Amino acid sequence: MGSQTLVFLVFALAVVTVECNSEVDALTAWKRVLVDPNNVLQSWDPKVNPCLWFHVTCNSLNSVVRVDLGNASLSGPLIPQLGDLTNLQYLEVFGNKLSGTIPRELGNLTHLISLDLYNNQLSGPIPPTLGNLKSLQFMRLNNNKLTGKIPIKVFQLIQWGQLMIINVSDNQLAGRVHQHTNITTGFAITTIIQDVKA
Ligand SMILES: *[C@@H]1O[C@H](CO)[C@@H](O)[C@H](O)[C@H]1NC(C)=O
Ligand SMILES: *[C@@H]1O[C@H](CO)[C@@H](O)[C@H](O)[C@H]1NC(C)=O
Ligand SMILES: *[C@@H]1O[C@H](CO)[C@@H](O)[C@H](O)[C@H]1NC(C)=O
Ligand SMILES: *[C@@H]1O[C@H](CO)[C@@H](O)[C@H](O)[C@H]1NC(C)=O
Repeated sequence: MGSQTLVFLVFALAVVTVECNSEVDALTAWKRVLVDPNNVLQSWDPKVNPCLWFHVTCNSLNSVVRVDLGNASLSGPLIPQLGDLTNLQYLEVFGNKLSGTIPRELGNLTHLISLDLYNNQLSGPIPPTLGNLKSLQFMRLNNNKLTGKIPIKVFQLIQWGQLMIINVSDNQLAGRVHQHTNITTGFAITTIIQDVKA
């Protein structure tokens, strides 16, 4: 093996290791601030590869692509470090008691396909950075306590991105009630905006 190849291999290994560590760091930091009465996060041991943890799925390169914690009785915040899960495609944390704001760092999850935060107690605005999620197909934020307007960049994902379903119903957002279904080449785009404020 040539020394150049060896250098490359060492470099590649270093990259994989760093990525893996930042994913472990992000998920363990999150576990630390979550209240988990049913111990669903018991297997989240930082000394163990996160690909072996329950409710976490990795790709063939050992990078986290799914977090499945729907209906898990969790309470606590979403944390900015979740934005470090660079290959995440599915963030399924619906049906908990998550509170606090949606971190703008979630806009760094450029591979995200599904952002399911519905049925929680999240408050504050929808971060405009979510408009960076060019792979996003499903954005379900319904039934929280979100306020403010839906950022224009988020709306543009429907037209210019992959977004098919956005549900922000049952929040405290400004705007008007509007349901829109667009069926083009088999894609149904449903937008539901519910206003409580005038
Ligand atoms: C989550 O819980 C709700 C309420 O109990 C239930 O209607 C829903 O089917 C559950 N979803 C999943 C995916 O388990
Ligand atoms: C992640 O997002 C934050 C806020 O949107 C930004 O300041 C930061 O530079 C981003 N980090 C990376 C690694 O892209
Ligand atoms: C949108 O959210 C509302 C409120 O949570 C829910 O009742 C409705 O079924 C959702 N619609 C779709 C299409 O998911
Ligand atoms: C429906 O979607 C198509 C393709 O994305 C788009 O060209 C069209 O303008 C949309 N129609 C409406 C009424 O939004």
